[in-house]
Amino acid sequence: MMKLNNPFVTYGYKGPEYFCNREQETQDIITALNNERNITLVAPRRMGKTGLIHHVFNRIEHTQPEVRCFYVDIFPTKNLQQMVQAMAKAILGKLDTPTQNAMRKVTQFFSHFRPSVTYDVITGMPTVSLDIAPNEERNTLKQIFDYMKQSEIRCYMAIDEFQQILNYSDKGIEALFRSYIQFLPNVYFIFAGSQHHVIEQMFTSANRPFFQSTQMMHLKPLEESKYRKFANVFFAAQERQISAKAFHQLYQNMHGLTWYVHIVLNRLYQEPAKSITKNQITQIINQLTEEQEPVFQNYYQTFTVNQALVAAAIAREGLVEKPLSNDFITRNRLPSPSSVQAALEKLETNQFITRSSQGYYVYDYFFAQWLRKNSM
Ligand SMILES: Nc1ncnc2c1ncn2[C@@H]1O[C@H](COP(=O)(O)OP(=O)(O)OP(=O)(O)O)[C@@H](O)[C@H]1O
Ligand SMILES: [Mg+2]
Repeated sequence: MMKLNNPFVTYGYKGPEYFCNREQETQDIITALNNERNITLVAPRRMGKTGLIHHVFNRIEHTQPEVRCFYVDIFPTKNLQQMVQAMAKAILGKLDTPTQNAMRKVTQFFSHFRPSVTYDVITGMPTVSLDIAPNEERNTLKQIFDYMKQSEIRCYMAIDEFQQILNYSDKGIEALFRSYIQFLPNVYFIFAGSQHHVIEQMFTSANRPFFQSTQMMHLKPLEESKYRKFANVFFAAQERQISAKAFHQLYQNMHGLTWYVHIVLNRLYQEPAKSITKNQITQIINQLTEEQEPVFQNYYQTFTVNQALVAAAIAREGLVEKPLSNDFITRNRLPSPSSVQAALEKLETNQFITRSSQGYYVYDYFFAQWLRKNSM
């Protein structure tokens, strides 16, 4: 594994040495899959779902070489045809060792879909694309699952951003999926997604096809003390430490959301000369807020007057337990409770505001910082 210049990775998964804890979650997912259970993984954005999936697969690849792991992110897909294509690319040609013979078998199996094979110049791994005619998506998907089934190889398949299927105009995809996966004795799934209530409803409503077909897992923030220890292993190599107090403030401000904490740690690491102080953390936060100013201006433009007022009020107070209370409304000169509620719902759906057991907060701390400074 290549050693990184900065161990606080802010994008992608770079290996277990740069991944903090999640031991219990990793074990729980592996145990579920090994015991014929599917998993649904939900958490707010940037908590670490995708990283955890890669971490789990990395572990399985080292400990259970007889299992094949497949990861597909369907966020960029706009319809069933694109989703099936994404799955074909992720799976086909990767089930067996990619020998000429195996590839011939794959192309024969899918001959109806005129497969084309390209090889990665660096790794030599094949990617198979299919020519999926309109109205053939469902058949193609069935064929992909049949191909996995006949291989008799144990397969773990992660579908990331699964809630995306609800945006397709194609209907009945949940039911379609359900009918296939029920009859695949050697394939188990991780469904991951971030729009909490959407995913939750899909898997826990009695009238939905996925009802009780998977084990739910809610990913919580990394445990604070373990997170600080992880950070201090790397800071110790620079002969400095982040104090419990400074780390607590950072962690608290960011509501424990991993990426937000991590991006600050990444900036701290690049300035090894200074000892770590609260003041330095504040400076970095201001810097990061400034860098994203154009993005925040864009967000703000999309808000209605009421949404802007409500978002700014919540940003000012940090964590709001009862946003519909008279106190909160009069203190912040907001409109009627029903208008506040409508604005709040919209902000929550669009993931600007998050609800936790303690209350409502602006999800993106840097955006909250910007709102405090710039909103009316
Ligand atoms: N356990 C961890 N150890 C170290 N860094 C982590 C960990 N979990 C998450 N991160 C950091 O947080 C970032 C976001 O994580 P990830 O992409 O896995 O989140 P996500 O929940 O899939 O987010 P999204 O909903 O936006 O897809 C990662 O790029 C990484 O920088
Ligand atoms: Mg993700």
